[in-house]
Amino acid sequence: MKTLAIETSCDDTSLWVIHYTWTSFEVEKLLAYSQIKDHEPYGGVVPELASRLHANKIIQVFQKLELWDLADIDFISVTTHPGLPGSLVIGKTAAGLLGEYFQKPVMPVNHIHAHIVSIFLEREYKDIELPAVILTASGWHNDLYLLDTNPHSDLWIQARLGKYHIYKLGSSRDDASGEAFDKVSKMLGGPYPWGPWISKQAAEGKPVGEGKLFRRIRLEEWSLDFSFSGIKSQVNNYLTKMKNNNHTPSEQEVCDIAYEFQESVVEVLSQKLIQAGQKHGAKTLWICGGVSANRRLRERIQDDIQDLNLPIPAMKPTKIVYSTDNAAMIWVAWIIKKMAEDNT
Ligand code: KG4
Ligand code: ZN
Repeated sequence: MKTLAIETSCDDTSLWVIHYTWTSFEVEKLLAYSQIKDHEPYGGVVPELASRLHANKIIQVFQKLELWDLADIDFISVTTHPGLPGSLVIGKTAAGLLGEYFQKPVMPVNHIHAHIVSIFLEREYKDIELPAVILTASGWHNDLYLLDTNPHSDLWIQARLGKYHIYKLGSSRDDASGEAFDKVSKMLGGPYPWGPWISKQAAEGKPVGEGKLFRRIRLEEWSLDFSFSGIKSQVNNYLTKMKNNNHTPSEQEVCDIAYEFQESVVEVLSQKLIQAGQKHGAKTLWICGGVSANRRLRERIQDDIQDLNLPIPAMKPTKIVYSTDNAAMIWVAWIIKKMAEDNT
């Protein structure tokens, strides 16, 4: 089975051709136009510019796929929500037109559910032991989910993807963790894309004092919700204090602040993921979404699991491109639904 997947929810125009073989999801061709350079001068994603660029680039990207003679695709899947409305509409329109042209069905996909199932890409199904607890950490959303084939009557079911049940366990009550990375990076004078910049600075940084410069915000002990808006205020207050003392942070001090900020975020993410895993009897723990590309987050989770002597492996998507927004995950979400239909 061969399919074309389209993702245009934010600042990547991403098209993938993927083969599904009943044992694995193999990516045949991937092409994406990243708008990073276009948004950089404005210090962030400009929604109007994003939608115009999607409109300009999507056909060029499609032509590069050399798909014109490949009428043998079985269907087209496309992100329909959530995301920037003006950007989503370009992907949906392109999918609709291509569907007409090739006479293929067009399948709508939820972006967040697609992040959850990004863990399936280029991985053996047996490695995804259920129940699994999954942290989706991105620029827009920061949630914890339980993925299982068995029903959990004590939990509120958010969605069904084929035989998989998706239960939401917690989410950020304000900013997403990726958003905190972005905002703090801007405060420190970092360029777009901010998340990777902060982690690069943090790698050169060291603890300030006891290494707890910024307070960890854990909310209620029992809660699996998050809050990341306070950390941004703490960094802002710290920088304002420096400014009031006529002190401009040196390059090393910027790295140290980035280090302290990153530690405070990854500590909470790791602890809540593990707490959720223990509470819901997870056999595997997962991180996905843009923030899962952060090396320190992955290290921290491994360290915490080791310290607690837990027999639960923690994993992430097989490639960094599958952590950030991509069309391959959009396709997986659909095929998982389809597999269940075909089996019945
Ligand atoms: O999943 P994604 O590509 O798009 C959304 O659905 O939001 O995630 C983008 C987010 C941004 O906030 C970006 O700063 C963050 O992921 N990010 C990172 C890293 N790479 C991307 N945050 C921390 N460390 C990174 N290495
Ligand atoms: Zn995303």
